[in-house]
Amino acid sequence: MAEILAAGEAMERALALLEGGDVVAIPTETVYGLAADATNGVGVARIFEVKGRPRFNPLIAHVADLAMAERIALFDPVSKSLAQTFWPGPLTLVLPQRPGNGIHPLVTAGLDTIALRMPKGFGGQLIARLGRPLAAPSANSSGRISATTADAVAADLGPKIKLVIDGGATSVGVESTILKIEGGTLRLLRPGGIAAEEIEAAAGMKLLRGAAGIEAPGMLASHYAPGAAVRINATKVANGEALLAFGPRRAEGWQGAAALRNLSETGDLREAAANLFAHMQDLDRSGAKTIAVEPIPSDGLGEAINDRLSRAAAPRDKID
Ligand code: TXA
Ligand code: MG
Repeated sequence: MAEILAAGEAMERALALLEGGDVVAIPTETVYGLAADATNGVGVARIFEVKGRPRFNPLIAHVADLAMAERIALFDPVSKSLAQTFWPGPLTLVLPQRPGNGIHPLVTAGLDTIALRMPKGFGGQLIARLGRPLAAPSANSSGRISATTADAVAADLGPKIKLVIDGGATSVGVESTILKIEGGTLRLLRPGGIAAEEIEAAAGMKLLRGAAGIEAPGMLASHYAPGAAVRINATKVANGEALLAFGPRRAEGWQGAAALRNLSETGDLREAAANLFAHMQDLDRSGAKTIAVEPIPSDGLGEAINDRLSRAAAPRDKID
């Protein structure tokens, strides 16, 4: 059962858990977040495991200051001025990633953009001490409403996590507003804690509305579609195919594979989730026309892994 510690007493324990690749529930001004070190793939995989999310949606990376944000993403004058106006606060900016930023690809579901925000309160202090960004979706089981008190987090996720940090009831109570900066325009991806009108006044321009492409939940099929065709549940490998393996035993014909990556030699689904996007990208770069994927069990994180793979395997003109 999770321990609930007051923000003033939780710092060292929280740092130890995050350094060890574990998750911690943190207060922010919007809703409580389920946080992991955004550079640690196993920690980020635990977020999905604890929430029971059936899909790998991209997560928000939380930063301590603008300097940390600029090491992660590329700001233009508009995004920089919005960050200076509204941070710390309930505004999330979706920006192009800076190459080599160390963010684990499971945070962004393999996208080349990243959602960033600077939270108020204990979360910001924790990130500054850790020296690395925290990936954090709302601290609730998938499909449940977001938690705005430490007790609500503990009642829902308590048996699955070790620490809930109590910062009192959150002041905003709804999630952050998400804005995508694209070629000099601003698109509202999710209304939230800062009103669209306030952003329009600060930016001196109207916001576009409605998701363009991949953003909305349910439209994630087009997420990182590899160039190669993907063949799932492969029990045989054809010569020249790339092989995405899982577990200790290899599919028949694996010796002829043009490239091979194993999601987890031991068959650990958390490790497999952490490796999924990077391994798919590696195999895609190998130049093979098809990536054969060995069967992966569908319990625990296997559900989200199989969801991602079946989307990659779907006929490209049928992607929803
Ligand atoms: O207030 C909040 O934003 C809370 C607290 C904990 O900070 N966090 C939160 O995270 O609501 P989450 O994971 O529930 O919502 C993140 C949203 C998702 O709808 C996701 O699709 C979108 O952000 N998102 C993340 N990265 C994106 C990207 N690169 N492009 C487009 N949308 C993105
Ligand atoms: Mg949520």
